[in-house]
Amino acid sequence: MSDVDAIVAQALAEFESAKDGVSLENVKARFLGKSGLVTDLLKQLGKLPAEQRREAGSRINDAKGRIEQALEDRRSRLREEELERKLRDESIDVTQPGRGQGRGALHPITLVRSRIEVLFRSLGFDVAEGPEIESDFYNFTALNMPENHPARSMHDTFYVEGQHHLLRTHTSPIQIHYMLRNPPPIRVLAPGRVYRSDSDATHSPMFHQVEGLWIDEHASFSDLKGVVIEFLEKFFERTDLEVRFRPSFFPFTEPSAEIDMSFGQGWLEIGGCGMVHPNVLRHGNVDVSRYQGFAFGMGIDRLAMLRYGVDDLRLFFQNDLRFLRQFA
Ligand code: PHE
Repeated sequence: MSDVDAIVAQALAEFESAKDGVSLENVKARFLGKSGLVTDLLKQLGKLPAEQRREAGSRINDAKGRIEQALEDRRSRLREEELERKLRDESIDVTQPGRGQGRGALHPITLVRSRIEVLFRSLGFDVAEGPEIESDFYNFTALNMPENHPARSMHDTFYVEGQHHLLRTHTSPIQIHYMLRNPPPIRVLAPGRVYRSDSDATHSPMFHQVEGLWIDEHASFSDLKGVVIEFLEKFFERTDLEVRFRPSFFPFTEPSAEIDMSFGQGWLEIGGCGMVHPNVLRHGNVDVSRYQGFAFGMGIDRLAMLRYGVDDLRLFFQNDLRFLRQFA
């Protein structure tokens, strides 16, 4: 039984050198586990002569108690060390200045869109929005493009839910929504995102349009020209703009024209326009014996390109901060 003290000393030393919880528990098993050294001693008790058992038993129990105490001490010290280490490593200096100091700014398309809205409001226009996922009816049929109409193929887009819903190809469906909710006279501007499967320097599969609709008893083509030119002159802050109304075709207007602009380096098409087709007015519940009107749709991104002198439309949507910061 003389090895009892030696076993205690060995246990204490090994606990001390255990550097973390896991190795400490391994050391514990070697002494106090089922076949540990202390357990072995207790098993040997039975082999001792009866008169020695009592004394040996109490020495072993005493040793076991000291070992358990040392284990407990070591455990709590390791826990404290662990906590201190965490506090040290994960400490936060609350007196340091914050890192997120970048100031946000509006995207150039947002800037241009709000500029357009402000200008049209000053001409007495209401501003309205519509859903980006449209039904076939609002995007085409109500705009005088019945199923199988060839003009639909110029608006190739992204279909959802079994061909009856699609990402709107233009802001014109907002005309119908608005007419159904508001009796004439109507003066409304409808900006928003639109989609077509198109992609090059002047086309993006997602782009922005702004739609204008003016309906009253006398609205004429010359009013249309007046409104568009007045807007463009204010938008570009110039009175010497070259604007051209080029005869064209849209199923929802008659007659129709494309709006082109030039700053001297050729023409850029910025939108379409025309007198609203009576079929479209009827879909909007407008009494065609009394009312008529005009509509126009312009590309917000195209206007932004011209205003800022950007020659590739895709730059607006690549989110390169070196580009975007120039507008902040
Ligand atoms: N919706 C047409 C387009 O996107 C533009 C347009 C709007 C033309 C209103 C005429 C009148 O191509």
